Order: sequence, then C-alpha cells, then structure tokens
Amino acid sequence: MSKPTISTTRLNRTLEELGHFGATPQGMQRLAFSPSDIACREYTIQLMHQAGLETRIDQAGNIIARKSGSDPSLPAISLGSHLDTVPHGGKYDGALGVMGAVEVVQTLADAHHGLRHPIEVLVFTNEEGTRFHRWLFGSRAMAGLLEREDMTAIDDEGVSMGSRLTDIGGDLTNVAAAQRRTGEMAAYLELHIEQGPTLYQNGTPIGVVTGITGRSVFSVDITGTANHAGTTPMGSRHDALVSASRLVLAVNRVAKDLEICRVGTVGHLHVQPNAVNVVPGQVNLGVEFRDVDINALSGAEVELRRTAAEIARADGVTIELTVLESTPSVPISGAMQKLVSEAADMGGFAYERLPSGAGHDAQAMAAITRAAMIFVPSVDGISHAPDEFSSPEDCANGTQVLLNLLLLADERL
Ligand code: GLV
Ligand code: MN
Ligand code: MN
Repeated sequence: MSKPTISTTRLNRTLEELGHFGATPQGMQRLAFSPSDIACREYTIQLMHQAGLETRIDQAGNIIARKSGSDPSLPAISLGSHLDTVPHGGKYDGALGVMGAVEVVQTLADAHHGLRHPIEVLVFTNEEGTRFHRWLFGSRAMAGLLEREDMTAIDDEGVSMGSRLTDIGGDLTNVAAAQRRTGEMAAYLELHIEQGPTLYQNGTPIGVVTGITGRSVFSVDITGTANHAGTTPMGSRHDALVSASRLVLAVNRVAKDLEICRVGTVGHLHVQPNAVNVVPGQVNLGVEFRDVDINALSGAEVELRRTAAEIARADGVTIELTVLESTPSVPISGAMQKLVSEAADMGGFAYERLPSGAGHDAQAMAAITRAAMIFVPSVDGISHAPDEFSSPEDCANGTQVLLNLLLLADERL
C-alpha cells in the first residue's frame, strides 16, 4: 500500500485560520482560558469531528479526541500540543503540533488507512502558564504531576484556577481523575517549532529532539524605601529598582560570563509605586534559569542567593527569594529518537539531533509513556514574539514526519 501523504494546503489553511483567534497588531494574545482560547478550542473540536475523532474534555480541561484502532487490546498512540500563547506571541508555537496532529488523522481518514492502535489527539490546558504562572498544567495533570500550588492558584485578575477550569469544561475538585495510568498510552508524539536558531542556520528541515531542558523559576521581592524623588538625597536612598537592576545584571552574568548554566533571564518586573516622581520602594522580579544539567541549575541558584545577599547588604534593602518552579530536564530515549530519524528518512528529509531549550507538554507526558518530539525550523530562531514564523513547506515536512512516525509506532510498539 502506498504511504499516505498529508495535504500541505489544508494544513497551512487550518494553521492560518487558527491564527485569527487572538490575533492583535502586537502578535498573538491567546492566553489560556481567555475568550479567544475558548473560541480556538471550539474551532479545533470541529476539525477533530470532521476527521472522525470523538472528543471529550477531561477534568483538567484538556481536549481528548480519540478514534479506535483495529486491535482493542492495544493502548492509544497520542499526538498533541497546546493552543494557548504567551502575551504578544506567535502563530506556530503549540498550534503546529495540534493542527499537524489533526491533519495526520484527516489524511488517514481520507485514505481509509486504519491503525492497529487507537489514536488520540490531545490539546493541553495552559501549557505556557502565563495565566497563574503554573505552566504545563494540563499535561502535568494527565501525568499525575500536579502540585499543591496548582490547586490554590489565583491568576493576575484575581480569579481562581477552579473557576477558570469550569469555563472550559474542567473540574478542579476532581482533577486527580484526569491522570492517565502508565501503560494506558503506547507513546506520545509531539511536533513543534524549534523556537531557536539551530535548524534554520544549518538549513536542516527536521530536528530529532534528544531531550528537554530543565528550568527553575524564582519570584524575587526587593523592599527598599519609597520617598520623594525631588527631595531625597542620592546618598540616603534605598531605591528598590536600583537594587533590582543590579540583580538583573547578576542573573545575566551567571549564564553569560560565569557560564554556571546555559541561560538566565529576568523577563518580569513589577515596580511600586511606578511613578516618575517617587523613589521606587518595592520591586518584584521573575527570574528564570535553564539547563539540561540539574547541578548547573542548583549552581545558578546558589550564585543568585549569594549575589542577592550581597546587594541587600550594600544597598540597605531586603531581598526575599521564593522558588516558584523547579523542573528537571527530561531525556528522550534512544529508541524513540531512532524512530523519529527513521520517520524523517521515510520522507527523504535530512535531520539532525538537538536538545530543546524550550519546555513542552512532552516533558510531563514522558512520566507516563514513551515520548518523542519532532522539530521544524523557526526563521531566524524567533519565537514567543510576533515575528515567529515557520515556512509552509517546513510545517508540512514536519507534519509528514509526524504521520510517518505514527505509522512506524503503530507497526512497532
Ligand atoms: C514554554 O513555551 C517555555 O517557556 O519554554
Ligand atoms: Mn509550545
Ligand atoms: Mn511557548
């Protein structure tokens, strides 16, 4: 039987249509649980039904779309990703993995090509974690990795996790029931844009992901003394923003100059009272470090704490650090990497192996099943920004590799 081929035109049309939900002149604004996220989920459910999938929403608000296979004794093979975006984000992060998965199922349906395993397409809730500052919510719920803080989380608008989940058909009081057992899935396969420069710079169409980076996130509260900006002498100020600035540079130095870990970023700053004529009294910073090596992450934390204490002493301010998240890196097994490389070979695509510097639902799913990831190039390595772009051809190539990978997994697992 000839191998089924995905439709480049249909895939890129659905991707384009999806990109209208939450589009603004400043980029995609499809935060989890927002009206545009909810509308986008409904559009996706329609596509799933057209492809012959039956859908349900689990207690964590994840969309689970399923079609039976010919052998009822086999566990499902799942494909998926997320539909939410960061603020001012792009059209491809997460969206490609979901639209690619739906395209794969539609292609198989059109070709009347049945599988032995049941197939599932999964859309995970709040992968980005912009809302609640708790990322990978849906996939962690499915993998049994939720933490106490997920249950009590309140978002920046003062709304509880329970209430937001109800809006999308979930149920926080019974969220433990969203957990799937180990063995309930034969594999989880995720297609994603690389979000970094490697594939694009090397001109390689397909990335075989070797592992997903670890990450630690801290909330840092600096308390100085708010005072009149016109009358307070420079020598007697305790300016929390000046101390915060020193800390921003210290975080950069940890990764860039000291090379203690791969990357370090301060991406969030909240200044109080944030008025031009008041010496800032209070600043909250969001600090993030990423590395595949857990020792590098703890090394970065030690250096952060050391510098924070030094700055506090020198500036006469107090600095408090709270660990918000600490996620170890997740390796992809050699066997699953080999399957992805065979899937690329089947389509005649060149590939290279590379680690993921971004986080993905696959890292949570790896706790309960075999996980694999396929990357396609991001033009100029730009992501989490309005200029995020992957060419229609690259999106189609990745989707064809996802289909090939599914066929191989169906045959071998
Ligand atoms: C998820 O998109 C991340 O921040 O890596
Ligand atoms: Mn993503
Ligand atoms: Mn993202």
